[in-house]
Amino acid sequence: MYVQTKKVAPWGTKDYVKTILFFLINYIILGALSALAVFFNVRDKAGNATFPESLTLFKEYFTVTETRSNFIYLMIALALILFVIYMYYYYERRDFLKMGKNIAMMFSILIVSLVISYAIGSIGHVYARPIALCALLSLLLIDRASAIFMNVAMCMIMFLADTYTGAQYSAGFSALVIGFSAGLVAIYLVSGVNSRLKVLLMGLVVSVPIIVSIFVLEGADFDHIPFMILNGVSAGMFSVSFELILVPIFERIFNQITSYRLSEITDHKFRLMRKLISEAPGTFNHCLVVSNLAEACASAIGEDSQVARAAAYYHDFGKLSNPAFYSENQMGSNPHDNITPELSAEIIMRHTEDGAALLKKYHMPQILIDVALQHHGTLPIRYFYVKASKMTDGELDIKNFSYPGPKPQTKIAAIIMIADGCEAKARTIKDRTHANVDKAVKEIIEERMDLEQFTDCDITLKELDIIRATLVNALVGVYHDRVAYPKLKLVKRKD
Ligand SMILES: [Fe+2]
Ligand SMILES: [Fe+2]
Repeated sequence: MYVQTKKVAPWGTKDYVKTILFFLINYIILGALSALAVFFNVRDKAGNATFPESLTLFKEYFTVTETRSNFIYLMIALALILFVIYMYYYYERRDFLKMGKNIAMMFSILIVSLVISYAIGSIGHVYARPIALCALLSLLLIDRASAIFMNVAMCMIMFLADTYTGAQYSAGFSALVIGFSAGLVAIYLVSGVNSRLKVLLMGLVVSVPIIVSIFVLEGADFDHIPFMILNGVSAGMFSVSFELILVPIFERIFNQITSYRLSEITDHKFRLMRKLISEAPGTFNHCLVVSNLAEACASAIGEDSQVARAAAYYHDFGKLSNPAFYSENQMGSNPHDNITPELSAEIIMRHTEDGAALLKKYHMPQILIDVALQHHGTLPIRYFYVKASKMTDGELDIKNFSYPGPKPQTKIAAIIMIADGCEAKARTIKDRTHANVDKAVKEIIEERMDLEQFTDCDITLKELDIIRATLVNALVGVYHDRVAYPKLKLVKRKD
């Protein structure tokens, strides 16, 4: 899924140049692939012609007016499709388009899906092509709207390639009919499915619209039902299987997160989670509560709750460098008693940068690294500032006791900052009535607003109010007092 990791600067001339250049490069790649398709098609048409005969046939294709016109038409149509893709992202998702990495990922999905589809089409049958692959990859690596749009683009490109590159089969419309239906069915079925086994089963369901489409394209020929079922099931299963193989590769290359990856890293059996549980159990419990709060807040304001949950789990990962220096992990002795408040503050402040560095080292998603770095913004550590003030006569610069930043750049980072502060504060409230918790949460949010912690992200006052209400409800629920059991003196019966 695509997660915005930083505040997007306004669109400038540089962005036009950069994005158009990226599209041009990919247009050339698609053009080269179309020429390659022509080469294989003319070669196969002549009964697998060998070199240099195949080269002569290829040259002929571009000298004969009719076939040359077909190729020119294909290139014009391709340019038009790419122009429409550009327009869609420019008007709907400019933040996504702005990053070259995203354009590279989008075209990689398209090109890899095309290459695999045509390879399977030429080895097996044109109906067995993994027609829903592009839609599924776009769904998992970008989002649902992009998946729908990219599925249409992929179907149109395949239709053009089938029609204008001298392909032997007369199945030009198959890509449009099969691809459109199978792609959309796959998008809606696989949305929100986190289990890889369930995705494989979905492959069988995706086969149904493919089989129906083949049945229609083959003129409702009942004699070929087994052939239609075999190809339809192959197309559905190839789509989901290649998706499962390619997603981890794309995740790694583009450092992108998917719901699979998020489920994996928030599992308590995950390697880094086990490390946190065993080396800093107190911090783990704190993160667990913060993750529940952050998840609720994210879904309340329409942010991705799964991302917020994962980011909260790892926000204090840097505490692993010195677990004993944090109150939640202390069992009696406090190492801060033996050092100066300045040094204490320095050690505590380091956990944001340490966390980001550790998460980067373990190749964790960028949003988790950003949240670890930003969750304290430029807030001061009051406890050690006050302690140091009491030990000195002169004025102390509070900056020396403040986190270096950066401030939260995204709504999810802002949510974690607030949830983190509220969780700590809620533990100190003795009488946790709704009114008392509400007062505490309000104070936390107002203090961060006064210290201008939300100036780098586009969170609104309305969203902050929704977050406040959500946190109050959740915290009253989390820390509700147990009903005191009446004291009962048990007397042993004599009989
Ligand atoms: Fe922290
Ligand atoms: Fe924390």
